[in-house]
Amino acid sequence: MTCTQDVTMMAAALLILWGITVTLQADLLADKKFLLLPPVNFTIKITGLAQVLLHWEPNPHQEQRNAILGYAVRINAPEEDDYETRDTESQCVTVLHKGFSASVQTIYWDEHSLPASSWVSAELKDPPGSPGTSILNLTCITNTIAKMHLRPFEVSLHCTWLVGLDAPEDTQYFLYYRYGSWTEECQEYSQDILKRNIACWFPRTSIDSTGLQRLVVHVNGSSRHATIKPYDQIFHLHAIDEVNPPMNVTAEIKGTSLCIQWEKPVSGFPTHCFNYEVKIHNTRKSSVLIGAIKTNSFISIIDDISKYSVQVRAAVSAACRKNGQWSKWSQPIYMGNDGLKIAIEWFIILLMAAIVFILLILLLICRTCHLWTKLFPPVPAPKNNLQELFVSPNSEKAGSNETEVEVISFVEEHGFEILEDSVF
Ligand SMILES: *[C@@H]1O[C@H](CO)[C@@H](O)[C@H](O)[C@H]1NC(C)=O
Ligand SMILES: *[C@@H]1O[C@H](CO)[C@@H](O)[C@H](O)[C@H]1NC(C)=O
Ligand SMILES: *[C@@H]1O[C@H](CO)[C@@H](O)[C@H](O)[C@H]1NC(C)=O
Repeated sequence: MTCTQDVTMMAAALLILWGITVTLQADLLADKKFLLLPPVNFTIKITGLAQVLLHWEPNPHQEQRNAILGYAVRINAPEEDDYETRDTESQCVTVLHKGFSASVQTIYWDEHSLPASSWVSAELKDPPGSPGTSILNLTCITNTIAKMHLRPFEVSLHCTWLVGLDAPEDTQYFLYYRYGSWTEECQEYSQDILKRNIACWFPRTSIDSTGLQRLVVHVNGSSRHATIKPYDQIFHLHAIDEVNPPMNVTAEIKGTSLCIQWEKPVSGFPTHCFNYEVKIHNTRKSSVLIGAIKTNSFISIIDDISKYSVQVRAAVSAACRKNGQWSKWSQPIYMGNDGLKIAIEWFIILLMAAIVFILLILLLICRTCHLWTKLFPPVPAPKNNLQELFVSPNSEKAGSNETEVEVISFVEEHGFEILEDSVF
């Protein structure tokens, strides 16, 4: 909860006071009968979603005697808070579904040791309805999208909630958001099977994601069987803003360096407002390197036999607003050689080399030991046939044994040569 105080008036008053105070202090201390009267007509008025205006008037019977008077305000509910003001009104942003109560008293602005007036109080009753009919677990996220019309960016809002445990089946919920003085009702709901609204989507809002104001969300409801208690929640933008991942991530291998570049995410924040994290995953070693950087590029030394996946994410730095969440990682881009492919290639080369080597050894054994002829001795049958073929005419014509032997040995040798050739 926050309530605004009139700071400028306070500062001006302090300057004027400084002069008067010194002379008056003695008088004031001496005259303890100078009683302060409480303010009158103290009212609390709802001026917006989760916003109230406290207003009071100075007591018309109050003596002044040159003393500067102010007011102490105490918020009692929903959350205790104390502050002082010289103004006669004050605005507070706070949830109102639990009711609101506050008190105010008149004080000496510059002399807190002197007794203040009595308190006057006012309160707003909590809205009707049993607490079990309120929604539960309201979560909202904002996201910036690039945009066409007047503003360069647009902020969307998405909220989800659970139906109250005591809410009748015919309950319908309605969601409103307020940002600054702008209030808007949701137009795009999602529903559960009983057609009760359980989520809401605003494609565009009046939210300035770079602003410091908080977002108020109010969800009320109606039912024919019960009064539905409304529910308020106040969100800090930095806590619910979903930052977009960096844009146009590219990577390039130059020798043994992996150079990665990207652009700032779609966001209302300028370039200097971002922190980045780069994730380089070596798929061969399954190791991950995460680098943190403020600029838009990153260089990493790599080996050239691995495959890498590269991702980058962004967050708005503390220089521009309170630390928020990291964006999602950008889509991975793959670089370098696939380690598995290289391994398979090497395996095939080695296998072929092994086969060649074994065959060479076999051939050598064959040559040296005449293993071939031992294993497959020349078949005698063709010898006889050939013998008959060549010999019989010879024996008929010449009848010489010498010619016979010569012819056979030639055929044998020739046959061996043919077999030997057919191995390779
Ligand atoms: C307080 O309110 C009453 C009734 O509304 C009004 O008559 C009176 O003038 C107010 N007092 C001051 C000091 O404004
Ligand atoms: C709702 O919120 C409560 C407390 O914050 C939590 O315990 C519960 O698990 C939440 N329920 C669901 C369904 O998320
Ligand atoms: C819900 O709240 C809005 C904004 O304050 C109001 O206009 C509307 O009438 C309320 N609806 C119900 C059903 O209470």
